[in-house]
Amino acid sequence: MCGIIAHIGDERVLNPIVTGLEKLEYRGYDSAGIAVKNGSGLDVWKCSGRVSDLKETIDGEESKANLGIGHTRWSTHGPPSDENAHPHTDGSDRVAAVHNGIIENHESIKERLIEEGYEFTSDTDTEVIPNLIAYYLDRGNEALSAFEQTIDDLEGSYAIAVIVDGIDSIFAARRGSPLVLGIEDESYYLASDVPAFLDHTDEVVYLEDGDSIEVREERVNFIDENDQTAQHEIEQVDWQPEETGKGQYDHFMLKEIHSQPTSLQKTVEGRLDTDAGTTDLDIDKDLSDIDTVHLVGCGTSYHAALFGASLLNRCDVSARAIRASEYEANTGTPPGNRLFVAVTQSGETADTLGALWQANEAGVETLAVTNVVQSTAAREADEALYIRAGPEIGVAATKTFSSQAVLLTMLSQHLARVNESGNRVEDADELVADLMELPDEVEHILQSSDTARLARKFLHSESYFFIGRGLGCSVAKEGALKFKEITYEHAEGFASGELKHGPLALVTEKTPVFAVCAEDNEKTVTNAKEAQARGASIVAVSPPDHGIVDTADDHLYVPDLHSVCSNLLANVQLQLLSYHCATELDRAIDKPRNLAKSVTVE
Ligand code: F6R
Repeated sequence: MCGIIAHIGDERVLNPIVTGLEKLEYRGYDSAGIAVKNGSGLDVWKCSGRVSDLKETIDGEESKANLGIGHTRWSTHGPPSDENAHPHTDGSDRVAAVHNGIIENHESIKERLIEEGYEFTSDTDTEVIPNLIAYYLDRGNEALSAFEQTIDDLEGSYAIAVIVDGIDSIFAARRGSPLVLGIEDESYYLASDVPAFLDHTDEVVYLEDGDSIEVREERVNFIDENDQTAQHEIEQVDWQPEETGKGQYDHFMLKEIHSQPTSLQKTVEGRLDTDAGTTDLDIDKDLSDIDTVHLVGCGTSYHAALFGASLLNRCDVSARAIRASEYEANTGTPPGNRLFVAVTQSGETADTLGALWQANEAGVETLAVTNVVQSTAAREADEALYIRAGPEIGVAATKTFSSQAVLLTMLSQHLARVNESGNRVEDADELVADLMELPDEVEHILQSSDTARLARKFLHSESYFFIGRGLGCSVAKEGALKFKEITYEHAEGFASGELKHGPLALVTEKTPVFAVCAEDNEKTVTNAKEAQARGASIVAVSPPDHGIVDTADDHLYVPDLHSVCSNLLANVQLQLLSYHCATELDRAIDKPRNLAKSVTVE
């Protein structure tokens, strides 16, 4: 949800800023823009549309500027337009700012500044930032002081980067939105996410919430939320630059689907003991007296939470998946006996962070299951478990869902073992052995899937239904989300037993029903037959010897493994189905309309 980048170096910065924006485009692609400081003022290029449109606007113009800022936008205040594109400047073009987040008190600041004679030209909340800095500059403040006073006046969540005419510094601050500093010799990058500069450096400093920073050539000053100079450790990220490119694939989504054998391998590495049939997640906390687990997330991560909750309940650990935007900490069992698990790929989703903060405040034990090291969720939770899936650039989450589900599977085993009320599941040996095999099994599905043919067969259907029970229900819901997200076709995922309680009214011969039957489940077969009797074609997503196979019109096979693994393989089939339908329909697969990957507003 909006990507920002800033760069200062001894060389021309325009190109690295443009390529950085291309890497951040997954965060928003409604408009893009850049401002650099030249010898005699600020140059600004911006336009609605993609970074490719911005490149046309720049049209090969050369700039010798050695510092600048850039932005790619997912609209919140005001529609995508050239005027609303960032960077925003004050009326006298002395200050340019880019911003990710929401300035909640922008209206009162704007009113105050308009009374003082400052002029506004956009619908955005961001425009108050350069104007407020200009206001403080006009009252004789130095640039750093003007920036800091502005930050003190702002309410809301933000990551901001600012340049000021005549000043060889970049000023930046974060509160609630991510910002990371990349260090390459005496050049510096600031960005919403590491891929923006990973081609140049893997040495980073993650800004703390509330930090401000002044970056000059050869020098960086951190100021913490108490206005004290701060020191932060330099860390090395273990993502590789090639992980942020498409490689041989047409789309990031396809690349990420195909990288699941590797990402799953990393998720389980060192965490499974096949001899003992146990998992080792290296959790510090004593979780023996937890009596309720709340798994909280949004979208795909919520579906992973549903998967985890089903498994925990199977191990006699009481668990519930909750949509982050609906979470209320002050209900239910005493906080001391609850475990809150934030399931979030990015670790920056505002709804999930809001729920996490509520849980922390209520004194609930919190755990983050996330992909991004040092993300806000990882730092705010009492403990973090990383899914190690590597960077995910496609807006549609694929490999990270698989890794989240596997990590939550391992967590369920851990809780079942240490928890007083939990029971070690009887089939733990089989589960651990099959998890070890999962990467190879995914590879087999990727090589043999019949989804391209089925995508063509069902291409012009009216609606696409996905049904399943238990673990299969979370896979069905995830299958439908992926499908609607990238094909723009109507798709719904249901608990198979629910079909007859209403949705069946929508079923016609133009509604293919994908029945996830990755484990023994005769009731889903009956539910599929009920849809078939109303004209629907049934596609069984199941092992070849499952009871649904005789009923189904078409098949997407998965091997008959432990139910966790068979269901995750069913999910890979559905990922491929969505991908192939979307390609047939010529959709913008990696950047579906209206969406952005990391949603940092509530
Ligand atoms: C769907 C998708 C979204 C995210 C959701 C939560 O493909 O990617 O539904 O799953 O916005 O994001 P994270 O996991 O980063 O909290």
